[in-house]
Amino acid sequence: MLTKRQLLQYIGSVAGAAGVYRSMAALGMLGVSSLTGCSSPSAVSQSMGEGKRVVILGAGIAGLVAAYELDKLGYKCTILEATARAGGRNLTVRSGDVMEEFNSRQRVEFDDEDYLYANMGPARIPYHHETILGYCKEFGVDLEVFVNDNRGAFFQSPGSFNGMPVTGRELHAAQRGYIAELLSKAVNGGALSDELTMEDRDNLLSMIRGFGDLNADDAYGGSSRAGYAGMYVNAGLGGAMPVSPLSRGDVLGFDLPWLFVRWGHSLDQQATLFQPVGGMDKIVEAFKTEGRVERFIRYGSVVEQIWNQTDGGVRVAYSDRGTMMEPFDADYAICTIPATVLTDIPNNFSRETKAAIAGTPYDSAVKIAFQGKYRFWEDEDIIYGGISWTTPDDVTQIWYPSNGYHRDKGIILGAYIFGVPGFDQTSALNFAEMSPQQRLDAAIEAGSRIHPGYGNKVEAGVSRAWSEVPFQKGSWPDFGHIPVEALKQPDGAVHFAGDLTSALSGWQEGSALSALAAVDAIQSQAANGA
Ligand code: ALA
Repeated sequence: MLTKRQLLQYIGSVAGAAGVYRSMAALGMLGVSSLTGCSSPSAVSQSMGEGKRVVILGAGIAGLVAAYELDKLGYKCTILEATARAGGRNLTVRSGDVMEEFNSRQRVEFDDEDYLYANMGPARIPYHHETILGYCKEFGVDLEVFVNDNRGAFFQSPGSFNGMPVTGRELHAAQRGYIAELLSKAVNGGALSDELTMEDRDNLLSMIRGFGDLNADDAYGGSSRAGYAGMYVNAGLGGAMPVSPLSRGDVLGFDLPWLFVRWGHSLDQQATLFQPVGGMDKIVEAFKTEGRVERFIRYGSVVEQIWNQTDGGVRVAYSDRGTMMEPFDADYAICTIPATVLTDIPNNFSRETKAAIAGTPYDSAVKIAFQGKYRFWEDEDIIYGGISWTTPDDVTQIWYPSNGYHRDKGIILGAYIFGVPGFDQTSALNFAEMSPQQRLDAAIEAGSRIHPGYGNKVEAGVSRAWSEVPFQKGSWPDFGHIPVEALKQPDGAVHFAGDLTSALSGWQEGSALSALAAVDAIQSQAANGA
């Protein structure tokens, strides 16, 4: 009988540190819940899959993770992938690539350089997404820091600060300053005397003075945090004064969502975040190379029907370039097809499963990328990576590249539009309906409000509206949507994975975790002779 320590040593020798971590989690040794709730972690049963066939529907991150792990367990895997490439929404585009939507075809005209690429799907990995980072480590995918929060970037709205862009450093300093000043006034005026002891009161005042950088009168009169007036943002040669503070009324009347200002406080947006060096699809490449999963993928295989068989197993009918192929029979299936597409595929799932699939709402994020003719954001605005925010009824965000600093050109994201809680999908859907050229024109108009002369500074724009992409029809299950239990359970021999079964919707981590859960659930079925 192996002790847990011996078992983990063994797993470490075959699956590396990431495998040990995941197994420890599955064994409940990290103080976190098991990935699966099943008592037999996948790594224990190394040969459980011998003689069993699994068909995986979709070669996105969930499908790749599932195939990689199932293969190690001895299962015979086949991935049916509808398109000509693996990765799903993990899409990095470079010079010469072609992007297709239902009504358009765009060729990427970036210069042909390694550092000039755009991640049109996932583009950042938070430090605590240990599963996807674990695979990066295991496969040697080089990472660099992704700058998510940049105090030198801008907030701009036609309804605030006379439409002028203000820097993050000014807005953050003023927001904190005025909150601290008002709270200090209230506390000094005895407003919270029922709540606070004298000691609490003194401690609170001390805390908020530092929070807001208040002056000796406990007022906010500006702060070096907001930068200096004159030719240098910093102290220069000395003697310079901090810039005049934004007015309290203007700050209180700021009409962009405060969510944008506190973006970097959300758990999944907190520093440190990463990106693979050279493009997010380096992760996909790593799954495909060194004999890991490429041999299992049948490209151009469009799933037409999914049938649980009465005597166990599953039959998947699929076509290749319009021709129906011999149906594929397997002991199990892992279905990672987005609910938006799956809902139209004939199947004999239970009523609960069908209802869950039909009832999963999707968002429709849009990204637009431009090549900067020169790095004007660095040269003119001292912006190195990060995000400028503008109105959510327009392009919402401009992202500056976290790579290629000081090189000749760079790829900026001229729009990243999505529905955040409290906002609907109107802008994303408006952009989705536009032609590619109309999208670029609209993004240039919006970007000009932040970077004067923008239209002359960018070139080679391309866009991706995920609601318009065949076999995707959406970007991710709506953030407010909690995955329903029905899809976390197998329907007969069909297991579901992809971000529609994970609370981490819209993240590769969610897809990877859902794939591991499906693998463990298959292990359980196999152990029970199902
Ligand atoms: N995970 C996606 C993002 O960070 C939604 O933008």
